Amino acid sequence: MKQLYHVLGAKQFEKEELEQLFDAARAMEKVVARGGDRRHEGRIMTSLFFEASTRTRLSFESAMHRIGGGVIGTENAAQFSSAIKGETLEDTIRIISGYSDIIVMRHTDIGAAKRAAKVSDIPVINAGDGAGEHPTQALLDAYTIRKEFGKIDGLKIAMVGDLAYGRTVHSLSYILANYQDVMVYYISPDNVRIPDNVKKYMDEKGIRYQETNDLDSVVGTIDVLYQTRIQKERFPSVEEYEKASGQYIVDAELMDRMRKDAIVLHPLPRAGEITEEVDSDPRAAYFRQAVNGLYIRMALIDKCITESQGK
Ligand code: CP
Repeated sequence: MKQLYHVLGAKQFEKEELEQLFDAARAMEKVVARGGDRRHEGRIMTSLFFEASTRTRLSFESAMHRIGGGVIGTENAAQFSSAIKGETLEDTIRIISGYSDIIVMRHTDIGAAKRAAKVSDIPVINAGDGAGEHPTQALLDAYTIRKEFGKIDGLKIAMVGDLAYGRTVHSLSYILANYQDVMVYYISPDNVRIPDNVKKYMDEKGIRYQETNDLDSVVGTIDVLYQTRIQKERFPSVEEYEKASGQYIVDAELMDRMRKDAIVLHPLPRAGEITEEVDSDPRAAYFRQAVNGLYIRMALIDKCITESQGK
């Protein structure tokens, strides 16, 4: 059976591979500047999204076009694929495997990408699986940090907001676990704390972290403030959501207390947790971060297709 290179979770990446991927993303920046290339002409990517997306879906689709490939897919697979008629995810994937060369999938269920990969004849990229993981977001986050600081080792990174349902912080923790002397602050309301399985992984990897709900105590010392949205759609009740919402707002006053060389990241979309007055501050790196998603995803598609062919 053909061996495939999938991107299913952030734990699969080790430092050497990360650095190669970041070099490839840097090269893709040059490809885009030249107007793209045709290296994957004739190849087709299926973009299968069971949950809403702006950045992930469109940057993946743009990425495939910029390296010469075509794109098919659906942006509302729950409604507009045969899932609504009761088709299983496994059958959907088996069918798509016959029509295309790579699948990028976002799904509501934790573990859905792994289920898809088990039955797929082509590489699968996890574009977010419920409250589980979002590995390609974490890769672009780490790429952004490396670009902004020239390194990741030794940085102090505060992840703020919904650390339970926000899948990006789980994946980013797993990526950061590859770097030396990183310090992670998990800052959240009590009902959306970082899950135990993420902390266990950080313990196993010997990564320093601290859990707190006091952003003020660290804001003047950190290099990266990674703000997140409270994931309203994943809460069991409105009451639980309201307990978590509105507690951490990045505004001009908070920026005044941050270091001059610190940056603010956010996977986006935002829902009020970074005020628009912050956008013009050069330390607001979240729109640069979103653009980096294009380069990382070009590199990932290229790697998945190339490495799966070669085996
Ligand atoms: N960051 C992110 O995953 O954004 P979208 O939901 O718009 O894809």
